[in-house]
Amino acid sequence: MSEILQIEGVFAGYGGGDILRGMDLRLEQGTITCIVGPNGAGKSTVMRVVSGVLHPRRGEVRFMGQRIDQMTPKQILQSGIVQVPQNRSLFPAMTVEENVRLGGYTLQDRALVEQRLAEVGEQFPIVRERAKDKAGSLSGGQQKLVEFARGLMLDPKLVLLDEPSMGLEPRILDQVFGTMIEMCKAGRTILLVEQNARQGLESSDRGVVMESGRVLLDGPAKAVLSDERIGDLYLGGHVH
Ligand SMILES: Nc1ncnc2c1ncn2[C@@H]1O[C@H](COP(=O)(O)OP(=O)(O)OP(=O)(O)O)[C@@H](O)[C@H]1O
Ligand SMILES: [Mg+2]
Repeated sequence: MSEILQIEGVFAGYGGGDILRGMDLRLEQGTITCIVGPNGAGKSTVMRVVSGVLHPRRGEVRFMGQRIDQMTPKQILQSGIVQVPQNRSLFPAMTVEENVRLGGYTLQDRALVEQRLAEVGEQFPIVRERAKDKAGSLSGGQQKLVEFARGLMLDPKLVLLDEPSMGLEPRILDQVFGTMIEMCKAGRTILLVEQNARQGLESSDRGVVMESGRVLLDGPAKAVLSDERIGDLYLGGHVH
């Protein structure tokens, strides 16, 4: 096993003080790590620091041995990190295929774009079946899968998924998390943030509990799931 991402002693915020206060996290290549924690703990802020939207005030972020904490989001994207954001992010008036193609807009090689489009169409049948439909006509769960597909156009090594279950019907969640596991089996490393702590952790290798901008608990996902402290943090003793 080798480490693909290292976050060390990161302090970062939005101008009104630090949100991350000494954040440490190391990701093993080819694994799924799930971050859970209360609203405002800084989970999405970790994602923003890794994707380069936010530069840390202190500390380091290294990806495949290289410092990335001062890189631009575009450089980070090109180095192999893709983020699927917390909110719906497809352009509803554009077709499914047009949206997926946007994920490959930085690729210069047109043949490669077509090849990748075919590959994601294999992995995500909805991309082929609904190619010419407006993205806005798809259900929330279908849109999330199309967002995953769009993210894979650059063949990323690390995929950041910020609350993929948000706002989705429970019956589609197995498919969303199942797809995430398939992406991991295909060799990608996944950093997941989930409010849906139980299902997120059950689908992951490792669990990280964040509170007030740092890591409170870190270990095998099953151990974190059965740790009584996480139940206390969420729903007065029960993880839902
Ligand atoms: N763009 C921003 N400008 C100013 N403050 C922000 C910004 N984004 C987030 N914050 C603040 O930073 C804190 C942490 O936000 P963050 O989005 O990282 O939390 P989170 O753990 O992802 O929470 P949630 O579970 O609600 O998604 C919050 O108090 C939030 O109000
Ligand atoms: Mg968030």
